[in-house]
Amino acid sequence: MKKAADFTLTENRRLTDRFSLLTLKGDIPADVQPGQFVQVRVDNSKTTFLRRPISINEADPATGTLRLLIRRAGDGTNALCDLEPGAVVNMLLPLGNGFTVPADKSTRILLVGGGVGVAPMMMLGRVLKDNGLQPEFLIGARTAGELLLIDEFRKIGTVHTATDDGTSGEKGFAHQHSVLACAGRWDKVCCCGPAPMMKGVAAAARSIGADCEVSLENMMACGLGACLCCVEKTVAGNVCVCTYGPVFNVKELTW
Ligand SMILES: Cc1cc2nc3c(=O)[nH]c(=O)nc-3n(C[C@H](O)[C@H](O)[C@H](O)COP(=O)(O)OP(=O)(O)OC[C@H]3O[C@@H](n4cnc5c(N)ncnc54)[C@H](O)[C@@H]3O)c2cc1C
Ligand code: FES
Repeated sequence: MKKAADFTLTENRRLTDRFSLLTLKGDIPADVQPGQFVQVRVDNSKTTFLRRPISINEADPATGTLRLLIRRAGDGTNALCDLEPGAVVNMLLPLGNGFTVPADKSTRILLVGGGVGVAPMMMLGRVLKDNGLQPEFLIGARTAGELLLIDEFRKIGTVHTATDDGTSGEKGFAHQHSVLACAGRWDKVCCCGPAPMMKGVAAAARSIGADCEVSLENMMACGLGACLCCVEKTVAGNVCVCTYGPVFNVKELTW
């Protein structure tokens, strides 16, 4: 069930000069799924009128704890990164669909996140582990200092890294990493990041015969299927990413 609710910011961890990890307390619906997002009302920006879509990084309905990983992109995300503990943040949640959690515990699954696209991979990895699977991660960033939340990912599963400048892991883009080129190693690949990276990951998964889900980050306004500004062309016609997605099996896309 979607509802607007006030959350209170309890911590703003400034991970780098471009990324902040917000921890908030509030009422989280019990059916929240990894891959879903929130629409945040940005009250502390005079120029941000529409809510901003942000992936759920972690959510624990039992304790009412929600985490959002924010990258400074413009006025709205800058204002969110500047929030101080005690701030009240209104959010609509949970929105969209989630990644599929395989019923078969032997499914070999790789979670790929690029830049701020690592955000939904934290809750997804944790939920997969809670369900008896053993996910591994492939995290990509521009440079070692922007590999976000790596220690936390390592508590869930093995982490492989790729950096544009070669300062950590393999040099190059995540979709070019050798771990993704291992035929027979993966049954499923889940990915979130810049569109060119997701297309590269989808192509790599296809070439090794792995199923692949991606989380699209099309520009959004309403987040509720009303304004049609987030439309994506699929093999079944045009759909709204905010309601039908953001998670798609790549077989549904025209990539
Ligand atoms: C489903 C979904 C989940 C997302 N999850 C996260 C997240 O977990 N953390 C996070 O930091 N960001 C996330 N984003 C992107 C975030 O919503 C945008 O960066 C934000 O709306 C930009 O708002 P702004 O006011 O800061 O910048 P604006 O001034 O509105 O825009 C600044 C720049 O960002 C670009 N931009 C705006 N929206 C998007 C978008 N959707 N994708 C890519 N570029 C955009 C604009 O073209 C412009 O160049 C997500 C987007 C979607 C659709
Ligand atoms: S954002 Fe309005 S229809 Fe998707």
